[in-house]
Amino acid sequence: MGASYQLRGDVAVITLDNPPVNGLGFDTRREFSAGVDRALADPAVVALVVTGAGKAFSGGADIKEFGSPKALAEPNLLSLIRQLDDSTKPVVAAVHSVCMGGGLELSLGCHYRVAAPGTNVALPEVKLGLIPGAGGTQRLPRVLGVETALNMIVKGDPVKSEQLAQVPGQKLFDRIIEGDLLEGAVAFARSVAAQRPLPRVRDLKATHPNPDAYFEFARNTVKAMAKNFPAPAKCVDAVEASVKRRFDDGMVYERETFLALMLTPECKALRHAFFAERAASKIPDVPEDTPVRKIAKLGVIGAGTMGGGITMNFLNAGIPVTMLEMKQEALDRGVATIRKNYEAQVKKGKLKQEKYEERMALLSTTLDYNGIADADMVIEAVFEEMGVKEKVFRTLDEVMKPGAILASNTSTLDLDKIASFTKRPQDVIGTHFFSPANVMKLLEVVRGAKTAKDVLATVMALGKKIKKTAVVSGVCDGFIGNRMIEQYSRQAGFLLDEGCTPQQVDKAIEKFGFAMGPFRMGDLAGNDIGWAIRKRRKSERADMRYSETADRLCELGRFGQKTGAGWYDYAAGKRDAIPSALVVEMIEKHREALGIAPRKISDEEIVGRLVYSLVNEGARILEDGIASKASDIDMVYLTGYGFPLWRGGPMCYADTQGLFNVVQAMKRFAANPHDDAAFWQPAPLLAKLAAESKTFNP
Ligand code: NAI
Repeated sequence: MGASYQLRGDVAVITLDNPPVNGLGFDTRREFSAGVDRALADPAVVALVVTGAGKAFSGGADIKEFGSPKALAEPNLLSLIRQLDDSTKPVVAAVHSVCMGGGLELSLGCHYRVAAPGTNVALPEVKLGLIPGAGGTQRLPRVLGVETALNMIVKGDPVKSEQLAQVPGQKLFDRIIEGDLLEGAVAFARSVAAQRPLPRVRDLKATHPNPDAYFEFARNTVKAMAKNFPAPAKCVDAVEASVKRRFDDGMVYERETFLALMLTPECKALRHAFFAERAASKIPDVPEDTPVRKIAKLGVIGAGTMGGGITMNFLNAGIPVTMLEMKQEALDRGVATIRKNYEAQVKKGKLKQEKYEERMALLSTTLDYNGIADADMVIEAVFEEMGVKEKVFRTLDEVMKPGAILASNTSTLDLDKIASFTKRPQDVIGTHFFSPANVMKLLEVVRGAKTAKDVLATVMALGKKIKKTAVVSGVCDGFIGNRMIEQYSRQAGFLLDEGCTPQQVDKAIEKFGFAMGPFRMGDLAGNDIGWAIRKRRKSERADMRYSETADRLCELGRFGQKTGAGWYDYAAGKRDAIPSALVVEMIEKHREALGIAPRKISDEEIVGRLVYSLVNEGARILEDGIASKASDIDMVYLTGYGFPLWRGGPMCYADTQGLFNVVQAMKRFAANPHDDAAFWQPAPLLAKLAAESKTFNP
């Protein structure tokens, strides 16, 4: 597997062949290069066509080689492109389906390019914190014009070939070929076989009528958009080099910039997130070829906040759903909310009217369990009370067809106990969606002690189908995400007791990059939720100490945005958090009652305590086997809790800081008499990795 060689009369066809997307790995590059040599050496060959087998021309670099020496082993991509540039016979790239990254750069090394309509063309490197590194920033502006090329390079999104063929004066595609691409490409190659000199992209000029003003404008726009990522601004610089420098100098600039970006923490974080997302679907003891159960029909129990959002995910994916409730009014309310959400999307132009109607046609409702008995899977989203869940699962066990998957959306209850209410615990699993369930990417898939492997594999595949990032968690209180956030919230409370205001804490962690600080978050989610959990905790875990400020707040009825007041004040109908003098006074009073003299707390300490509380609990979660790898924890935080993407998740961030330094910070926090010294003992796994100079993520 690599690349194949075939003669079509006097035209040699070299086909990239490295499924799934013809990644340009070492073997592929070597065989491709050998094919080019062979064609040039054969006097019977008058021209070359290069194309890709199967479902792509080429998706670019082979991600399996990323960061390894193999990626640079000769012939590397730059050498391969030079070989094409120097070819004495015309080379035609026949691109189709997917032509991205290094694949597009390879095609730009060819003398001519023909494309099938519908080809997705992109230089997506910026999404991994990089700029294209094999000439893309120098060649694309030469064939598409500076502005179109820069737009593509800065955004990284695919553009269709026929759209690019419309760009005035473009030289990217010599022809769009309807019908048989290879046949058309070979005929085209024959028609240009005698043309000399051979047109090379490097010999074209990238020009702009007003380059200084344009690049200044572009840089300002990109800086405002990209904020914490260095790569987009570097895309502008590199494209500017294509206009202002000679081709070879521009190539050197691109290379140096690419290599410098590769070493930035932002690039490392983005690459980590990219691989972590893929790794999340791999479960150590569940082989990838585990057969999955067919899920063609779904039941959802409870049409409340979560039930409605969950239902929308499946309607969006074309899977029919029947919602079940206790009362018709609840069903009507649930359906009305779904309609309202879709209608808002239609109004904004994000959803076509007929799509909306198609989706609604997939929705039905029932008050009777017989109405869902033939569903392939049912997701329960009723009140968070064990007694209610028990009734529901006992009924499901009676009515559902054999082999149906029984899922619970519980956020805090013991899934194994829920499974024990049935005679088929192997079919029971947790699907913990996040609110709003139709928007949030994260899906924690909770694996019970008895959950069957094929049930797990099915739900993971289903997660992908409904476009979620599915991460497996074992059973424990709070699963991965909420178990960690509890420690983070505890620290936030202690910080108030010791001298901070809610605003100061929120600002510090938002400056670090969190989408929302803990107190604004609490006001959004409802402070009463944490209150209920703390009340329960008092009886379950007497060893867990909390600041009582949050309880005082709830006793005042300040539950957050829904009551118009929480940690902050809110103007009617608005979501802007306004600092509250009353809350500050309440905190001060409580502080006095505790006998704590307030001190000035630095942003660094606030961020350290909040983030490292996640890290230490994350390490314990790994030790307990609740998460099978550190990157799963990072995915949970990136997709469900607003952790800044450019920091790669809490475990990746700790790795970047150095685990030795993390442990040292924890020792300092443990010495604070108002904090929880026992909590700050580094988890044994963390201590061990730090002592061995290792990291959580390999
Ligand atoms: P909700 O109170 O908005 O909705 C619950 C719905 O279930 C109500 O419409 C109720 O009429 C219905 N229901 C109650 N008992 C029923 C029964 N025996 N049969 C049929 N329907 C019944 O609650 P929400 O927020 O949607 O929560 C549902 C579940 O999702 C809970 O387990 C909760 O812990 C979990 N969850 C909630 C999140 C949130 O942010 N709200 C996030 C993640 C999980």
